[in-house]
Amino acid sequence: MKFNKITTNILQQIREIIGEVFVYTEIEALEKYSHDETEDLQYYPEVVARPQTPEQIARLFKLCSAHIIPVTPRGAGTGLSGGALPVNGGLLISMENFNNIIEIDERNLQATVEPGVITEVFMDAVQEKDLFYPVDPASKGSCFIGGNVSNCSGGPRVVKYGTIREYVLNLQVVLPTGEIIWTGANTLKYASGYNLTQLMIGSEGTLGIVTKIVVKLIPKPTQNVLMLASFTTNELACSAVSAIFRAGIIPSALEFMERKGVEWVMQHDGLNFDLKDGINAFLLIELDGNNQDVIFTDCEKVNAVLEAFDCKNVLFADSSTQKEELWHMRRTMAVSVKSNSVYKEEDTVVPRAELPALINGVKLIGSKYGFDSVCYGHAGDGNLHINIIKASMSDADWNTKLKDGIREIFELTVSLGGTISGEHGIGLVQKEFMDIKYPSINLNLMRGIKAVFDPNGILNPGKIF
Ligand code: LAC
Ligand code: ZN
Repeated sequence: MKFNKITTNILQQIREIIGEVFVYTEIEALEKYSHDETEDLQYYPEVVARPQTPEQIARLFKLCSAHIIPVTPRGAGTGLSGGALPVNGGLLISMENFNNIIEIDERNLQATVEPGVITEVFMDAVQEKDLFYPVDPASKGSCFIGGNVSNCSGGPRVVKYGTIREYVLNLQVVLPTGEIIWTGANTLKYASGYNLTQLMIGSEGTLGIVTKIVVKLIPKPTQNVLMLASFTTNELACSAVSAIFRAGIIPSALEFMERKGVEWVMQHDGLNFDLKDGINAFLLIELDGNNQDVIFTDCEKVNAVLEAFDCKNVLFADSSTQKEELWHMRRTMAVSVKSNSVYKEEDTVVPRAELPALINGVKLIGSKYGFDSVCYGHAGDGNLHINIIKASMSDADWNTKLKDGIREIFELTVSLGGTISGEHGIGLVQKEFMDIKYPSINLNLMRGIKAVFDPNGILNPGKIF
């Protein structure tokens, strides 16, 4: 696709639509928008606009369609697959100004929120009303809820509460052709034709720009227990995961961490944690509900399973501070890995009983290619974040052979019944691996959908396919 540059004349029209103060062209101002959290990738847009209304976005789309200018939508820039990178230059539309919680409807247990609201700000506002919005990605303190919609975000509590897919009821969307639509209805059921709401979720900013989000809320559970279980091997920890569910328990979080991940968080954050010799893997397990006795009975059932997998120790967090510390350990693992080494991050997901086979396979593939890996993730969902560490790999091998190693990891993932991303998306960096998961008929169906929404191909080009 051949795109055009933003001329002085087009820039002037962008300024007329948005207003002078929210249009940036200076290199210093563009820098912030040139990267997300995906490795060290950097691409500069030509112009950044920060609209304040859906109508302004509609007018920008009409302008960019007329001149074939690429448009990249951006939330908070916390993505891990390069979805918000303006790889073709052009106009970047930042959603920072869409930062209002429009309504928390306590009668219907719903909320209407703009996409530029920080996820944790929204969670806190809802919690003040004793309600719960459980979709809390590790980056909840900085990511935008609009980015969560576009990426189909998850996080630790998906295992009991589901991904954002289970919460979004209706979306206001500006289409690349310049129309503004609502995708569905503010209802808990929807059997009224193709479900455009669900189609938008996880479409990574390639079909339209979301400008309002209606989500379902649930009552806030009042009690929880958090425990950290230690194991001698990855395989034992990962094998315990599916057994916990088989014992009749659905934890509100069930996270896996390899020892090296914990060590790196300790280095990165100066965290003081008593890491015992011989312990190589952890499960962080949270149970929640409204009845402490029921939760404690469930904890006993979980303990019995853990013992069967030779768990060496179970630490019960006995205060909210200790709970916070354990969650901090888990949530800062991604940034700790990033600050420690040259790395490449993968987001594999398999049916949860296949986790031991996945992690063992990853280690074998690593020894074949000469890379290390630090794995952690949402074990209860079978979602393993594999951080490939350069280790003794030469620069040449890292730059050429690594791709073959990643391909093998994804082939293994798919052969186990899984897929190549559970929650980080395809974006820019995983698209070359889509053929492992999908035959061309599936990819062509997706391309056809893209063409219907975006006939001029201007919206977030170069992503997913
Ligand atoms: C996490 C992010 C990387 O789970 O998805 O920490
Ligand atoms: Zn994650």
